[in-house]
Parts: sequence; C-alpha cells; structure tokens
Amino acid sequence: MNAPVENSPVESRLTAVVAISQTGVIGRDGDMPWRLSSDLRRFKSLTMGGVLIMGRKTFDSIGRPLPGRRTIVITRQADWSSAGVEVAATPEAAIELAGQTPAFVVGGAEIYRQLIDRCEEVFLTRVLCNVEGDTHLELDVADFSVLEQSRIPAGPKDDYPTEFFRLVRHRKSTP
Ligand SMILES: NC(=O)c1ccc[n+]([C@@H]2O[C@H](COP(=O)([O-])OP(=O)(O)OC[C@H]3O[C@@H](n4cnc5c(N)ncnc54)[C@H](OP(=O)(O)O)[C@@H]3O)[C@@H](O)[C@H]2O)c1
Repeated sequence: MNAPVENSPVESRLTAVVAISQTGVIGRDGDMPWRLSSDLRRFKSLTMGGVLIMGRKTFDSIGRPLPGRRTIVITRQADWSSAGVEVAATPEAAIELAGQTPAFVVGGAEIYRQLIDRCEEVFLTRVLCNVEGDTHLELDVADFSVLEQSRIPAGPKDDYPTEFFRLVRHRKSTP
C-alpha cells in the first residue's frame, strides 16, 4: 500500500527549481551561463506568492529580492543582511522560517545539494547546450517520476532551446 511522504504539519512542501545544461553546468562566474527569457517567465509564474530559499552567492547574483515573493538567504555570516530579505543560518532554519508558505529551493549548487532530498517536487529545465561553466549539479532523477514534460524551442530572447520537466518524488511505501 502506498502512503504519502510524511511532512511536519508546520512545514511547507519544498520544490526545487533548477536549470541544468546537458553537461551538468548551472553557473559561471557567479551568474547564469545563458540568457533564457522564456525560462525566467516560467520561473516567475511558478514561484509567485511563495518563498524563495537561496544561498548567499545566488542572492548576490540576483542582487535584490524578487517582487511578489519572500526571499530567504542562507549564510554563515552572522552579520549579513540586505533590505527585504530574511536570513537563515542553516538550510534547516530556512525551512522553518518559510513556515507554511509554498517554498522553492532556487540554488545554487551548494544549497541544492543540501536540500534536494527534502524536495517533493523539482521543476527542471534542461538547457539543450554544452556551455562551459564553473558550477555543476548532478541531479539524481531516479527518485522522481515525470509528471509533465515539454520541449520549448528557443524564442528570440533565448540562447538555447530547453526541455522542461515537472518531477514528483515517488511515494514511500509503508513497511
Ligand atoms: N541554473 C540554475 O538554475 C541556477 C540557480 C541558482 C544559482 N545558479 C548559479 O549557481 C552559482 C552559485 O552557486 P554556489 O553553489 O556557488 O553558491 P550558493 O549555493 O548560491 O551559495 C553558497 C553560499 O550559501 C551559504 N551556505 C551554503 N551552505 C550553508 C550552510 N549549510 N549553512 C549556512 N550557509 C550556507 C554560504 O554563504 P556565506 O559564504 O555567506 O556564508 C555559501 O557561500 C551562480 O553561478 C548562480 O548563477 C544557477
């Protein structure tokens, strides 16, 4: 018999949102290695009204809180702050701070690696390119089922075509 994965009632469901090249690249020089306007639009509509959980380096690359969403930045720097941003000293503290607001883990690699096992869903954009980069992520999709999949040709403001996947973690079986 299948049963839902158990979540603490005070914690929100966690969803990762990530764009990865065909060779596992997600970043370069502290920034994204591509310009993908259509993917940014989807990111906006998927995350609107929720809370974004990100590492301090990813926040630095964005430079400001994104409108319509709470922003939680994870940092080990006790004196770090930025206007309009909530600060967490650990990934665990970030989840607690998110409370019951739908929460999106939005990078970078350090934060994905620490929180992906807690994510029930992944919105994955496969960027159909082999760009060079200095930040990589291997996403083990074996624990997930594909709920949606669509191929998006490169629009006028996209560097590459992409393939979008909505992945949902397999339900754990009861013993
Ligand atoms: N393709 C995508 O979907 C995507 C998404 C997001 C980001 N990116 C890219 O990824 C790159 C950044 O990723 P990154 O891995 O270098 O950095 P990151 O994960 O964004 O941030 C790393 C920082 O988070 C803090 N941190 C990490 N683990 C922590 C812990 N356990 N407790 C407390 N603080 C912790 C530390 O901040 P302090 O140093 O302040 O202590 C650490 O330096 C950029 O190139 C960015 O553009 C790509």
